[in-house]
Amino acid sequence: MLSGVQPSGDVHLGNYLGAFRNWVADQHEHDAYYCIVDLHALTLDHDPSRLRERTLDMTRWLLAAGLDPRVCTIFVQSHLPEHTELSWILECTATYGELRRMTQFKDKSGGQESVRVGLFTYPVLMAADILLYDADRVPVGDDQRQHLELARNVAQRFNARYGDTFVVPDAAIPRVAARVMDLQAPERKMSKTTGTDAGLVYLADEPAAIERKIRRAVTDPGTDVVFDPENKPGVSNLLAILSAATNEDPTALAARYTQYGPLKADTAAAVVEMLRPVQDRYREVCADPSFVESVLAEGAARAGKVAAETVARARRAVGLLEPLR
Ligand code: TRP
Repeated sequence: MLSGVQPSGDVHLGNYLGAFRNWVADQHEHDAYYCIVDLHALTLDHDPSRLRERTLDMTRWLLAAGLDPRVCTIFVQSHLPEHTELSWILECTATYGELRRMTQFKDKSGGQESVRVGLFTYPVLMAADILLYDADRVPVGDDQRQHLELARNVAQRFNARYGDTFVVPDAAIPRVAARVMDLQAPERKMSKTTGTDAGLVYLADEPAAIERKIRRAVTDPGTDVVFDPENKPGVSNLLAILSAATNEDPTALAARYTQYGPLKADTAAAVVEMLRPVQDRYREVCADPSFVESVLAEGAARAGKVAAETVARARRAVGLLEPLR
C-alpha cells in the first residue's frame, strides 16, 4: 500500500480525517509506504526557503497522527532518485492526449500566465510513486481518482508493451470516508489552496481557536438539524465532523439536536478532545529533531531497496544497457 501527501504547510482537519487517520489504521494491515511528495510541490509557485521546513513538519504531523515508523515506511520523495528516473520512463509510456484530459491540470493551469511542464506531467510522477512499490492499494481522495486511473492505464500499457513489470494498482475507498468541507464555504472541501483561515481547523490550533472557528461556521437557512449534505451542506459538515470525532452515525447524531448552537458547541468540544493527543505527540516529536531525522533516513533506506529493484526491472524491460563497470 502506498499513499502520498504534499508538504503543504499548516496541516488541517481535512488532512487528518480524510487521510491520516485511515493511514494510521491501515499501517497494521498492509505493508504500507507513506511518501511526502516534495517534488510535486515544485509544480506550482513555491517558497524554497520554506519547503525544507514544511517537509520536516509534515513528517512530524504524520508521526503525531500515529504513524509508527516501526510498522510502516515514511519517506521523502526527493530522497530517492528512482522516482524521477521511473517518471521519465513512464513519460515515454503515457500520452499527451491522456494527460491533457486531467481535470486537475485544467483547474490548476487555468488563468496562469506560464504553466510548468512539471504541472502537466505531475500525474506521471505520481504513477511512478505508486508503481515503484508494487502498490495494489492506494488510498486517495476523490480529486485523485483520475490520476490513479492514469497510473493503472500506464502500468497496463507498459506491461503489454514490454512484458509484465508493474503491479496494476487499485484505488482504496476508505472504510469511513470523512469528507471535511470548508467551514466558511461548505460546498467545497477543506483545503489550504482554496479556503480561508476561518474555514480551516488546523491541527495546531489552540482549543479557543477551534471553538471560535466552529462557532462561526456557516450554517444553512432554516433551523432544522438534519444530515443532508446536498441541501444542508453547512450543518451536514458539522455533523460529519462530529460523527468522525465520536464514531457515531451522523443521522443518529442529528436527531439529538434541535438547534445549531448546541451542535456547534458539541462538535467543537469533540474536535478539541480528538486533537489533544495528536497535539501532545506533536510537541514531543518537535522536541526530538534527531528522531524525525532518523525516521526519514531509515524510511529512505527501506523504500530505496524496493524502488531500486523496480527501476532495474523497468530499465531491463525497455532495453536500457546496464551500467558497465
Ligand atoms: N497527488 C496527490 C495529492 O495531491 C499526492 C500524491 C503524490 C499521491 N503521489 C501520490 C497520492 C501517490 C497517492 C499516491 O493529494
